[in-house]
Amino acid sequence: MPEQRSTTSRTVAVLFVCLGNICRSPMAEAIFRHQVEQAGLSRTITSDSAGTGAWHVGNPPHLGTRRVLLKHGLTTAHVARVVTQNDFTRFDYLIAMDRDNLRDLRSMGGGAAARVALLMDFAQASGTTDIPDPYYDRRFEETYTLIDQGCRGLLEQIIGTLRLPNTTLPNTK
Ligand code: 4NP
Repeated sequence: MPEQRSTTSRTVAVLFVCLGNICRSPMAEAIFRHQVEQAGLSRTITSDSAGTGAWHVGNPPHLGTRRVLLKHGLTTAHVARVVTQNDFTRFDYLIAMDRDNLRDLRSMGGGAAARVALLMDFAQASGTTDIPDPYYDRRFEETYTLIDQGCRGLLEQIIGTLRLPNTTLPNTK
């Protein structure tokens, strides 16, 4: 693992949110965590994921998500859970996979300081607003590609707010 380069005492917590918390958001959590590790910022930036729906609480991520992560050398030990009111104070960023998730989050969280946003807002060059749900279309590889782009943009933005010296994102996945 790269040497920890952060000298800040500030930490940033990111929660990725989708509908079922078995396909997209646990994939985002695993990809983002890897990118954070690659940037040497694991002690500064933490992440988790949750769903707006409760159908899969207690379940591992979907086989399609685990397979595509493994294909890219990543694993996940996530157990599905729902978003709670508490998450709006525990996390600095609540990052939605699509506009339905965003609307559901906004209807839950009033007045908290957490920034609530769409993942693809951080990768506007992709021209995509929503991450399509692979639970329905089974396009897990396309999901991975979009989430990877969004997570890179998000991490760059967070690094910008930390104002760390000499922190660059590696090109490797
Ligand atoms: P996700 O996909 O929101 O990316 O985890 C879904 C998983 C399960 C269901 C819907 C979407 N479901 O209806 O059970």
